[in-house]
Order: sequence, then C-alpha cells, then structure tokens
Amino acid sequence: MEKKLRVGVLGATGMVGQRFISLLENHPWYEVVTVAASPRSAGRTYEEAVGDRWKMATPMPEAVKQLVVMNVNEVEKVAAGVDFVFSAVDMTKDEIKAIEEAYAKTETPVVSNNSAHRWTPDVPMVVPEINPEHFDVIPFQRKRLGTDRGFIAVKPNCSIQSYAPALTAWKEFEPYEVVATTYQAISGAGKTFKEWPEMEGNIIPYIGGEEEKSEQEPLRLWGRVEDGVIVKAESPVITCQCIRVPVLNGHTAAAFVKFRKKVTKEQLIEKLVAFKGLPQELALPSAPKQFIQYLEEDNRPQVTADVDFENGMGISIGRLREDKVYDYKFVGLSHNTVRGAAGGAVLCAELLTAKGYIQAK
Ligand SMILES: NC(=O)c1ccc[n+]([C@@H]2O[C@H](COP(=O)([O-])OP(=O)(O)OC[C@H]3O[C@@H](n4cnc5c(N)ncnc54)[C@H](OP(=O)(O)O)[C@@H]3O)[C@@H](O)[C@H]2O)c1
Repeated sequence: MEKKLRVGVLGATGMVGQRFISLLENHPWYEVVTVAASPRSAGRTYEEAVGDRWKMATPMPEAVKQLVVMNVNEVEKVAAGVDFVFSAVDMTKDEIKAIEEAYAKTETPVVSNNSAHRWTPDVPMVVPEINPEHFDVIPFQRKRLGTDRGFIAVKPNCSIQSYAPALTAWKEFEPYEVVATTYQAISGAGKTFKEWPEMEGNIIPYIGGEEEKSEQEPLRLWGRVEDGVIVKAESPVITCQCIRVPVLNGHTAAAFVKFRKKVTKEQLIEKLVAFKGLPQELALPSAPKQFIQYLEEDNRPQVTADVDFENGMGISIGRLREDKVYDYKFVGLSHNTVRGAAGGAVLCAELLTAKGYIQAK
C-alpha cells in the first residue's frame, strides 16, 4: 500500500481499545491518527487519559501518547480526519447502534467489536477464515443507509472462537449436536486481577448474555446470504455453559459433538490442520499462517503455553477423542482480546481493504 489509511479507534482508552492501539503499532496498511473515548477522557492526551489503566503487557506506543483524545459523540469531527474507524465503546446497545450508524452515514466504514449490530440483517458478522462471503451484503446495507462508502461490519463474540473454527473445519461430516462449556478469562470483562482481585482463586458460573451469544452466533457465521441479508443456519444445535475463571487472557472450551457422518479421529485432525481461508491465501498482514493447530499432548492446549499461538490469532485444539455419549469430545483455546476481539476486527478490516470495501477517502 502506497499511503497508509488513517484510522480512528472509538473507545481507545478501554481494554479492547488498548488492544487495537497495540496491534496497530507499525501496521503496514494502517496508521492510528485519532483516538476517541467518553467525554470524561476527551481533551486530554491519550497518555493522560489512560493514566494507570494501561493493561497491555507491552508499553504504550510512543506514536499515540500525545494524541488528544476526542469525544466519540462528536461524530462529524472525529470522522473528518479518518478513512475508517474501529469501534470498541462501552455504551448501551441502542446508543452503540445509533452511533455506529451515524459514523457509517458520514461515509466512514465502521469495523466493530461490539455486539449491538451482530443481528442487524444486512450487517456482516465475519470471521475472515469462515464466512468472508457475508461481506457481499455491504452494498445492500449501503443502499439502506444511503451511503456510497460508509457501512458497518462486525466480528462475533469472543467465546465462540474456541470451538466454532473446529466445527467449521468438520462441516462435511455434518455436526448436528454440540455441547460446549467455556472457561472464560477476566479480560473478557475488560478487567485485570488488579481491578478484580475477587477473581483470584475464584470461579463465577455466570456471564451475562454470554450463553445465548455462544449458542446462536455460530449459526449466523454459518448462515447464507439471501436477498441482501444473512439468513442463519439451522444446524447444529448448540447448548453452552459459560464460566468465568481466574485466567487473565484466553478462553478455553470443552466441547462434545455428534456427527451425522462416520468419521475417524485421524480425519478430524487432518481437516483441522489443513483448514485455511482467504486471509491465508491473500497473506493478509495479521493472518496466522496456521489458523488451527492440533496438539497431541494430553495436557494441551494450556493457557500459559498456547494462548499466544500465531500472535494470539491462531486457534489451539487438543484432547480430541471418542466419547461414550457423543461421538467425539475436544478442548479448544483462543485469545479472547486478540482473535476474539481487536485482532479479529483488524483481520476483518484487512480483508475489507483487500476487497476494496475500505479505501482512502
Ligand atoms: N474485553 C473483551 O474481551 C471484549 C470482547 C468482545 C467484545 N467486547 C465489547 O467491546 C466493548 C468495549 O469493551 P472493553 O472491555 O474494552 O470496555 P472498557 O475497558 O470498559 O472500555 C470502554 C471504552 O468505551 C468508552 N466509553 C464508556 N462510556 C462511554 C460513553 N458514554 N460515551 C463514549 N465512550 C464511552 C470508554 O472511555 P473512557 O475511558 O473515557 O471511559 C472506553 O474507551 C464493549 O461493548 C464490550 O462488550 C469486549
């Protein structure tokens, strides 16, 4: 790319916003020129506004420290200086819906981490390796919004990345019933142990709204484009329990699957490791070379050993074995704030750029 695209991060001071800032440091196609957050942070430099809330393991990039934080709600002003935005604001669903549409209507594409638009029929919700064809609804969305280049695209909930990629790789064997329990990291709630000391040595058997998302969102990923909207798939039926565990980063899932077709363990593993998509074919900057790795050791995947596989963009699967009640069971692991949040959104943006949906204004 000759000239980098100018990027704004909405909600830049939060947990996911900080992950965007870190991942975009030295990005070959994108340059963060605008950071925006609530009116509480607006007017201060990014370094001042974040203060001691910096939660990444790597230092705050020098290039953003002196950027003056803008108010997310001043849409025209923020949009004027950028080619597109990433969105990771924490507001009510209705507020997020409205503000993301407002940005799109300024002809600014929005690639969002938020859940507000995940079920808007003409908004694509994409994992680039799984359903890139869903971006085909963008022209229909633009027509509804009355825009030439503005649109909204979203990525799904963080929890499903630990099992939905494996089920996708196994599609030809027709999985029809899935039971999954997720063991979810505290960063998924935007927290560290410093801010949530009660989580040390603790387990909380409830994450608001998470089970429904974990059961339903994979079906939308596997849905089809029909008349300019996404129609969700009917199968497999998925039932989930989502549990908060004392882990900083990394969502683990223990899943059981029934298949309509007979399949061997060797065939399942072969499909996992061979599975790739457009990001790998196009060698997008954030694409993992190996999307899914299979670990043979009985005690893998482990959060500490495997969460950063492929810089947090790869999925680790292990413990695949036959089951007495279901056909097979396995354990999956993904990085919830990289693949499951900001990294997944950056990969979506890269594919949208490669396909010409995002361009310089
Ligand atoms: N954490 C994850 O792994 C994860 C995964 C998937 C989806 N999400 C979703 O992503 C969004 C951000 O999550 P997070 O964990 O990063 O939250 P967070 O750490 O609480 O950050 C929230 C961000 O939104 C801004 N904000 C809060 N209230 C606002 C308002 N009224 N107007 C404008 N901006 C406002 C904050 O600005 P100030 O600093 O100025 O308050 C901050 O930049 C949420 O919708 C969350 O559900 C999170």
